[in-house]
Amino acid sequence: MARQHSWIFLLRMWILVCANGKTPDVLVTCMFSKDCILPCLFEPVGDEIIYWFKQNVLLHTFKQESVFLDQPDKRYTGRTSLSNDTIPFGNVSLRIRKSGPQDRGRYRCLVTSSRETSEHSITVIVKAPIESVNMETTWLSGYEEVKCSARDVYPAPRVTLFTEPPVLPDGLQTDTRKTADKQGLYRVESKIRKLKNQADLTYICLVQSFYGSQIWRTSLQEKEMYSVEGKDFIIPCVAPWILDNFTLTWSFAKEHKSSVIYTYDSITHLGFSVWEERIRLVPPSGQRGNGSLQLHNPMGIEHTGIYTCVLSSFQTQHVVHTRVSIIPRTVGRLPKSSPQRITAAIITGLTVTAVVVCLVIIKCKVSRTRSIKTHEEATEMHPTRDANNEDPSETICLSEETEKSQT
Ligand SMILES: *[C@@H]1O[C@H](CO)[C@@H](O)[C@H](O)[C@H]1NC(C)=O
Ligand SMILES: *[C@@H]1O[C@H](CO)[C@@H](O)[C@H](O)[C@H]1NC(C)=O
Ligand SMILES: *[C@@H]1O[C@H](CO)[C@@H](O)[C@H](O)[C@H]1NC(C)=O
Ligand SMILES: *[C@@H]1O[C@H](CO)[C@@H](O)[C@H](O)[C@H]1NC(C)=O
Repeated sequence: MARQHSWIFLLRMWILVCANGKTPDVLVTCMFSKDCILPCLFEPVGDEIIYWFKQNVLLHTFKQESVFLDQPDKRYTGRTSLSNDTIPFGNVSLRIRKSGPQDRGRYRCLVTSSRETSEHSITVIVKAPIESVNMETTWLSGYEEVKCSARDVYPAPRVTLFTEPPVLPDGLQTDTRKTADKQGLYRVESKIRKLKNQADLTYICLVQSFYGSQIWRTSLQEKEMYSVEGKDFIIPCVAPWILDNFTLTWSFAKEHKSSVIYTYDSITHLGFSVWEERIRLVPPSGQRGNGSLQLHNPMGIEHTGIYTCVLSSFQTQHVVHTRVSIIPRTVGRLPKSSPQRITAAIITGLTVTAVVVCLVIIKCKVSRTRSIKTHEEATEMHPTRDANNEDPSETICLSEETEKSQT
């Protein structure tokens, strides 16, 4: 019953609106550079005269028996059109070709005939959605900055750049700029000075579209890690958000050469390691945006470099650059057959030899002085030395000396 009543109410409202010759505003969203149709339907009688206005500018006039009149305003020439085919069926929709920011506003379609006059109002908004958000560190201002930007967006989106954990407000000042190009599209850019000695900060950038339908999230972390050769360790990569469907890419850069070393897709659960057994994802399933990587038995120089983790999800991206230094361990424990091992063995051998030689020399010098003294004492006081009590090294040195004195 209630439903029936509301139907009757709606019908009455509709009749009232029609009687007034006006219908409520229709909202049309035109996507930038795409064609856009502004609807206007009427009850065809046969003698209609139709006017299309934008604000108060007349765009088109149509009289049943003849023609489209010229467009009085040059700004719209050629970009708006009516379709001949559909007018006899009561459809005089306006087409805007390659719409842009200049096409937004209020339009009116006025249809007069021998039977009635009706007017339709259409509000047009134009959108150029956010296609990507870029976050990077730059030195353009002479110091290191984190920059977040989005381009070719309309209307201008809102950009928020901050850190997690938050630092004191005066510690960080963001500088946000919006500029429009010739087409009216915006480029927005927000910069924040990078803080020194704040290695664990995550820089987060949120870009929200003007109408709130899109929120892009990007974050950036830069870290340093040290580890010891041969010792397994984990390079963390945890997004500040829970991610359900994501892809993960790890790459390794050394001397300006970068290559992908690991990929993972959370929907298919498929991971692929270019470094095979050397690396694996921990936890194994890459839970909800935790893409931490374990490096197994790393070697010193070979695995020292920059590891980059990119976690991507719908309108979301988290990037971590980790500069990893692997410090060579005490040489004996290196894996067999590595070239380092041979070098290390040689170095060890040389070192040991050198130490032994030094020790011998020192000892010889000490004992030599002692033996000289003994000789002196012997000549003065004539003591007898017990040959069995002699230090072996002393014996060598003494015999050397004896040899010298003999020659
Ligand atoms: C619409 O009709 C007029 C008159 O018949 C004609 O001159 C014009 O070319 C037609 N336009 C289109 C797009 O068909
Ligand atoms: C009216 O015509 C336009 C093309 O000019 C078409 O896109 C639209 O679907 C038509 N509307 C109806 C209700 O037939
Ligand atoms: C993740 O992907 C699955 C399968 O494609 C889909 O059913 C689900 O809705 C997605 N979840 C989110 C949060 O996008
Ligand atoms: C991410 O995974 C690593 C390795 O399993 C673990 O140590 C760490 O606590 C996890 N972090 C979060 C936030 O889940």
